[in-house]
Amino acid sequence: MEIIIADSYEQMGVQAATIIRQQLLRKPNSVLGLATGSTPIGTYKELIRLHREEGLDFSQATTFNLDEYLGLPPSHEQSYRYFMDEHLFNHVNIPKGKIHVPYGHAESVLEFCEWYENEITHAGGIDIQILGIGGDGHIAFNEPGSSLGSRTRLKTLTEQTIQDNARFFTSMEEVPKFAITMGVGTILEAKKIILIANGAAKAEIMAEAIEGPITSQVTASALQLHRDVVVIVDKEAGAKLKRADYYRWILEQKKKLVPKLIGYAS
Ligand code: F6R
Repeated sequence: MEIIIADSYEQMGVQAATIIRQQLLRKPNSVLGLATGSTPIGTYKELIRLHREEGLDFSQATTFNLDEYLGLPPSHEQSYRYFMDEHLFNHVNIPKGKIHVPYGHAESVLEFCEWYENEITHAGGIDIQILGIGGDGHIAFNEPGSSLGSRTRLKTLTEQTIQDNARFFTSMEEVPKFAITMGVGTILEAKKIILIANGAAKAEIMAEAIEGPITSQVTASALQLHRDVVVIVDKEAGAKLKRADYYRWILEQKKKLVPKLIGYAS
């Protein structure tokens, strides 16, 4: 894992967007795995800026979102499809037909989940996946206890996630209790993963996920098994990392080493 402690939320977004930009420049028809929630908004803002001001081109890209609430149609203001339209899709040039967000109104959830997995495979797999982390350590909606080999499926949300989401709905009854979500196994198949987190409320769980044991009780900890993960946190979310100084030192050393490795060091 490469761990970057950014100075601020804005910096975190810029760093994550820079990695996505590099991916798109290297492979214009990249398959991007996308997340919703408050964490990636800054990343999407920067991607929109890069598109508008620097011509970053998404015209050959394909996207797959991690999850969607069961029962919410794409037109519902709290659906993840609506969120993605508002925060990214309406502002960049990803062809509409290449956008995939799990369909919360699917007639057969089982068939839909199988179809979604197949679509990811047919697209050639996810090149780069953006992830946030829940207060209980979930990635996508893989709540504690989710199999680390799980695939796209229907998931019952925990009390904590339901509470965390309550602020977006007018009454508790409206807050969805189920979601369609990529599995931990699906996520681990992405070629590269960026995990982002900001704010003091994420400090404890980030330390558990990165420095604690790999356990289905904190599904983000499964990322320790992946060979290409970049973790970007702001100072607050990185505050409880025991080896923060070491992570900073590694980055400083890498900066010195990389020019040597690619042959233009003085
Ligand atoms: C959203 C998702 C979730 C969020 C997580 C953090 O697509 O998959 O795992 O990333 O709940 O949410 P925020 O960013 O709102 O703190």
